[in-house]
Amino acid sequence: MQGGAHAGAAAAATEAPVRVCRAQPTPASPLSAPAPPPFHPPSLQATLKKKEAELELVAPYSRSYGRTLVSSVVESESQGLALVGRTIRIGGWVKTGREAGAGAFAFLEVNDGSCFQNIQIMVDKEVGDQVGGLRQLTPTSTCVLIEGVLAATPPGTKQKVELKATKVVHVGSTDPAEYPLAKKKQSFEFLRDKAHLRPRTNTIGAVARIRNALAYATHRFFQERGFLYVHTPIVTASDCEGAGEMFQVTTLLNKIDEEPEVPPPTPEELAALQDRVLKEAKAAAAAAKEDKALAKASKEAVAALLKLKEEVARAEEAGSLCGGVRACARPAYLTVSGQLNGEYYACALSNIYTFGPTFRAENSHTARHLAEFWMIEPEMAFCDLADDMQCAEDYVRYCCRHLLDSCRPDLEFINSMIDKGAIARLEQVANSSFKRVSYTEAIELLEGVVAAGKKKFEFPVSWGIDLQSEHERYLTEEVFRQPIIVYNYPKDIKAFYMRLNDDGKTVAAMDVLVPKVGELVGGSQREERLDVLTRRIAESGMPMEPYSAYLDLRKYGTVPHSGFGLGFERLILFATGLDNIREVIPFPRWPGNANY
Ligand code: 4AD
Ligand code: MG
Repeated sequence: MQGGAHAGAAAAATEAPVRVCRAQPTPASPLSAPAPPPFHPPSLQATLKKKEAELELVAPYSRSYGRTLVSSVVESESQGLALVGRTIRIGGWVKTGREAGAGAFAFLEVNDGSCFQNIQIMVDKEVGDQVGGLRQLTPTSTCVLIEGVLAATPPGTKQKVELKATKVVHVGSTDPAEYPLAKKKQSFEFLRDKAHLRPRTNTIGAVARIRNALAYATHRFFQERGFLYVHTPIVTASDCEGAGEMFQVTTLLNKIDEEPEVPPPTPEELAALQDRVLKEAKAAAAAAKEDKALAKASKEAVAALLKLKEEVARAEEAGSLCGGVRACARPAYLTVSGQLNGEYYACALSNIYTFGPTFRAENSHTARHLAEFWMIEPEMAFCDLADDMQCAEDYVRYCCRHLLDSCRPDLEFINSMIDKGAIARLEQVANSSFKRVSYTEAIELLEGVVAAGKKKFEFPVSWGIDLQSEHERYLTEEVFRQPIIVYNYPKDIKAFYMRLNDDGKTVAAMDVLVPKVGELVGGSQREERLDVLTRRIAESGMPMEPYSAYLDLRKYGTVPHSGFGLGFERLILFATGLDNIREVIPFPRWPGNANY
């Protein structure tokens, strides 16, 4: 800190809280004359008002520094003009700084992340001299806290106000020769390697605010409709998608160099040992009761029993290493989806949603796949596929509307620098309903364009194939030019839990496909019939045992229910038009990469 943090405009913030006393109306008596209005000397009132206004401008939890957020100035109704003449403090990082007037002053563009816009600060040489000269302030990424007076800028200037510095309160300097992002334009690949500094760039800053707005919209959408937010586990023993693309969780790797005293027992061996302890304990107790002469033999039996118990404890310890989580005898994994746990709650509490991290161990290096991503998964009781599709459509449209209403400057930047169609796409989605297309219709359409020679695909098209990204994008970008929902997929390409349709060939599944991204949402009506579900698990070649709880749900009060999963990063990709999903999550993880 340089200079007094508690001086000037900030002083009001650090003094004892200012109590604003307002006159209490005196109860009117029918006999007495109305009481005269309470008298306050104007100077005291004016002082109180001024202090109150100053407090309003200071950011909450930045009171010791008396810092005002840039957004409170530039995003206010008058864009700061109503605050002209006020003394405030701005704290943030210099985007660009330049000296002018032959070194008589400098202009700093400062951003504090509270909004896309910067605020311009003009610093005279004399003020700069307080901290060793203007050059201390101008390098990009220097952190400053500067006190000054807001002044109107000349007409025609982009921003309505600028700050005329009177005091530099803090400088966190940056050596421009060493700062890795000193150059104006950096590739996104390069920025990924500097993930700790990339939030200071315009694009990643805008993405962070857009991501935040979409998370807020998500909670608002579901909360306003009475859904409960349920936290599903990250470590799990079941493979929800049945695809086996899971990261295993284990403590075994840490112990790999240690020679195990006891080789890990199989679950069957462990159960047999525990059973023996129980039986021998019972036998020893019975012997002691029956015959005094057997008491000696009983003592020996107890000693043997204690030894056996120790053996069991060691075996359990070794077994727990395999499971990764103590006392968990089965292999454990990072979850690929919270759906199964979500279903348990929906089948008791009706409508729920999860919003958490999920993990896929697939070896995908595409621009739409991450090893760790966030998923929103609603699950609804008494809900069929038609209602499920409607919920997905309403939710996606709500998010687009919320972004358009709350992140305009960020979107305008994205629209001008990243994707000229971004705002139009959001408007279109917010304002029009999604087309429903059955899988069979979609295949016929694709086969039609191939037969007519209008389009060639890398992966051939025929009924039964899993739609590839190129097919999905062609349908949504070229054929329909809007989001579509493809439903009723062949059962053999979808997960075991999707409800079998009456045709015996397809399941009540749906995918929402959007331009730029392809698959944004995957969902289905769930199989609620115990016999059909049991058969589907067996047909999928999966073990029955890990799904016993899931099957119980169909035994005890089964209910038709549906849900879906929306990949949060795919939604941000769609909103921003960025090319690679690694740009829209703060710290991306993909095969071989988990830096930071
Ligand atoms: O289609 P998926 O695999 O569906 C499920 O996991 C279901 N259990 C969801 C449910 O019904 N509750 O994944 C859902 C969505 C996809 O549509 C996609 O948007 C996203 O998750 N997704 C990924 N996003 C980024 N990286 C990956 N590797 C992704 N895999 C899926
Ligand atoms: Mg899917």
